[in-house]
Order: sequence, then C-alpha cells, then structure tokens
Amino acid sequence: MTYRNPPTTPRKSATFDDYTLSEIRRAAATGIYDIRGGGAKRKLPHFDDLLVLGASISRYPLEGYRERCDTSVVLGSRYAKKPIELKIPITIAGMSFGSLSGPAKEALGRGATLAGTSTTTGDGGMTEEERGHSKVLVYQYLPSRYGMNPRDLRRADAIEVVVGQGAKPGGGGMLLGQKISDRVAEMRTLPKGIDQRSASRHPDWTGPDDLEIKILELREITDWEKPIYVKVGGARPYYDTALAVKSGADVVVIDGMQGGTAATQEVFIENVGQPTLACIRPAVQALQDLGMHRKVQLIVSGGIRNGADVAKALALGVDAVSIGTAALVALGDNDPRWEADYNELGTTAGAYDDWHEGRDPAGITTQDPELMQRVDPIAAGRRLANYLKVMTLEAQTIARACGKNSLHNLEPEDLVALTIEAAAMAGVPLAGTNWIPGKNGF
Ligand SMILES: Cc1cc2nc3c(=O)[nH]c(=O)nc-3n(C[C@H](O)[C@H](O)[C@H](O)COP(=O)(O)O)c2cc1C
Repeated sequence: MTYRNPPTTPRKSATFDDYTLSEIRRAAATGIYDIRGGGAKRKLPHFDDLLVLGASISRYPLEGYRERCDTSVVLGSRYAKKPIELKIPITIAGMSFGSLSGPAKEALGRGATLAGTSTTTGDGGMTEEERGHSKVLVYQYLPSRYGMNPRDLRRADAIEVVVGQGAKPGGGGMLLGQKISDRVAEMRTLPKGIDQRSASRHPDWTGPDDLEIKILELREITDWEKPIYVKVGGARPYYDTALAVKSGADVVVIDGMQGGTAATQEVFIENVGQPTLACIRPAVQALQDLGMHRKVQLIVSGGIRNGADVAKALALGVDAVSIGTAALVALGDNDPRWEADYNELGTTAGAYDDWHEGRDPAGITTQDPELMQRVDPIAAGRRLANYLKVMTLEAQTIARACGKNSLHNLEPEDLVALTIEAAAMAGVPLAGTNWIPGKNGF
C-alpha cells in the first residue's frame, strides 16, 4: 500500500514567491534581463521607521497661525559668488530629457518656480522648455556628456557633477531606441532609434584628485559664480562625502537606493546601494568631522514623499531634500484616470514602471508626439506647486510642534526610531529607550 499525505492547504514558498517564479519564467522565455524605471520596490528601512517627539514639558511648541517657521535655504555658500537661495528645502531632482517628454520638463520648471525652488536638467542636455520656465536651474554634468556644452553651463544657476545615482551606484544610464526621437538624437549627437547606454564613469577622471581639477575647470568656465554640487549614489556615504568636500564641492547630494531611475536593470535597482535612511548619518558625520556641516550643504534624495519625510531628513542634519518620482506623480504619472491604457500595457496605475518603453499613457516618460500632448504643462506645473506647498506646510507643522522657528532647527533629539535597524542607521534612540544601537561606529 502506498502512503499518501492527507490533503493540507497548499503552501507557497517565501523564497520562491509568485514574483520570483514569474521572473524565472520570463528570463527562461526571453534570455534578457528585466529593465524598468522607478526605485527599489522591496521594503527597506525608511523615514516611516522614525517618529517625531513633539513638545512636552521640556519643550515649548510654536503656534501655527501666528508664529513663523522659516523654510528657506541657501545652497552653495562655500565658494560660489552667487549661491542659490530657495524658499523651500525641497528641490526637483535631475531627470533627463529623453526619459521625460518636453511638456513634462516644462511642467517641472513651472511648478518648481511657482513654489520657489529649483529644478535640474539630466542626461541629454538642457531644453529650452526647462531653462525658459525654471527660475533656478541646476545643470547636470554627467559621465555621458550627452548634450553638454559650455554655453549651457553658463546659462545654468548651479552645476551638479553626477558621479552616481541611488538606483544604480556604479552603473550607467539606459535610453532605449523607442525613445530616441529626432530631437533627442540631435541633442545627444547619437543615431536615432538605437539603444543608448550612458557611461558609468567620467571619461577624463578616475578619482578624487582628478575630480578636484574638474571642479576647478568648471568654476573657471563659470567665473566662480555658480555653486558646484557633487551627486553620488548611496554606497559609501561617509567617504564619498568627505572626498567630495576635499575635491571642492559646495554641495553634496546623496541619492539613496529607493531613488528613482528612468531605466535600469531590475537586479541592480533592488540589490545595489544603501537605503536612503542609512546614508544620512554617515554623510552628516563626515561633514561634522571635517568641520564643514552647514558650510557645505547636504541634499538627500531617494523615496521622499511628504512633509514628514522632509522634517525627519532635516532633523538628521540634511539641508535640503530632492524629489523625482513624487514630482512625476504630482504631474500625473501613474494616474488611475489612464487605467484602461495601463491595462492594455499589462499593468495597472500605481505599478506602471516600463518607463523605458516610451508608451507612458500619462505622456510623461515618453517621446511619442501624441501621448506627450496629454501633459498640460500649466495645469501639471500648478499641481506640482500645490504638492510642494503641502509638503512644506506639513514639515512646518511638525517643526512648530517641536518648538522650532526654522525647519533647519529640527535635530536628531526630536526623533526616535521604531525598529532597532532604523535606530542604528539614523543614530537616534529606539522608541521607549535611550539606546542608540551602534553609537559611535558605523
Ligand atoms: C525619470 C527619471 C529620470 C532620471 N534621470 C536622471 C538623470 O538624468 N540624472 C541623474 O543624476 N539622476 C536621474 N534620475 C534620478 C533622480 O535625479 C533622483 O536621484 C531620484 O529620482 C530621487 O529619488 P525619488 O525618485 O525617489 O525621489 C532620474 C530619475 C527618474 C525618475
């Protein structure tokens, strides 16, 4: 007689979950790796793992309706003759023209300007839409040098030397042929319709000593007027911050692994780099060790969504944050109103990430002349400005509750962590204790 197990509820493996199984099948069927846009989708320690304490007997709160809470920030006060003054400490991150449509770039410029902040170019150069509608525009100087020219360096208000991105530290960009229109091809001086892979490292320097020379060159071209930012992906934030400062940066930008990208290998997005939360404390520590905290400003990005995230990042010692994905959502990306179109692409609003394919129903991550008409730059810009305003008000609400008359007076003492991991990464006590795991060593 053969023994048979009595029936039980079928149990799926946590290791080989449905998504993993479908990826194995997809790889087996196609022989190519998956490329997508967006940031890491797996659950990672994040700002949600921190809580703000608020005032109590030892702290005195400010009244929201009559007491000021300053939100302005100055970026580039170290060397630049013309530092940047922003009304809010939330900037728009660099997103390439090519990955984004012209109307989307215009909308970003309009929204940022209405809100009193800056926007940033990206791989592929500066567009007139963006320069024309951005009061403050940061010009990216990237490994690919696509679309780079000295005239545009001088037309910018600041320069951001991109060493890496949080979604792909050490990796280069991708722009697939579908999105290489005549205009994109011309700006990049590359052929139309052919997949482009941007370089992962700068062609003319290999390390911090060369970076110092490059920064000096950029300062000379721009008459020492423009602040020079250095942007790195969140990999080794302590040393990268220290080396960027040594190389002469005015501003250090750290992009954590939740940071969005236009197109990168899925395996890269989910497995390379450190969570945004884990990058902040080492970067601030590096600035403090060099006596440069608040002299060289620190901008952090990667998964910033609301005013609470802003307040928590600032409390940890950051001067400003930067947003990419959230800004695109404010413009209309992944909006349920296009659900039928998302379904046709085999996905759903909220999950659409095939930004490299150029078929974005919302008209944002596309070069398709018809689809991009779906973005009304004026209305979308207004939505972005509204969103930035709400984030700022939220951050102010939190700061006032902590008794702070400036967002920049928030401090680590205003925070506790919900998990041991977040406590160790952020360097704040675990809630209900005075224990900071791993204090004095990271
Ligand atoms: C569509 C898209 C295009 C991007 N293009 C660039 C780029 O050209 N250069 C760059 O440094 N970063 C680029 N990034 C990364 C952003 O500058 C930023 O680091 C990231 O989006 C921040 O994370 P968040 O999207 O979670 O806010 C891009 C991001 C997105 C979403």
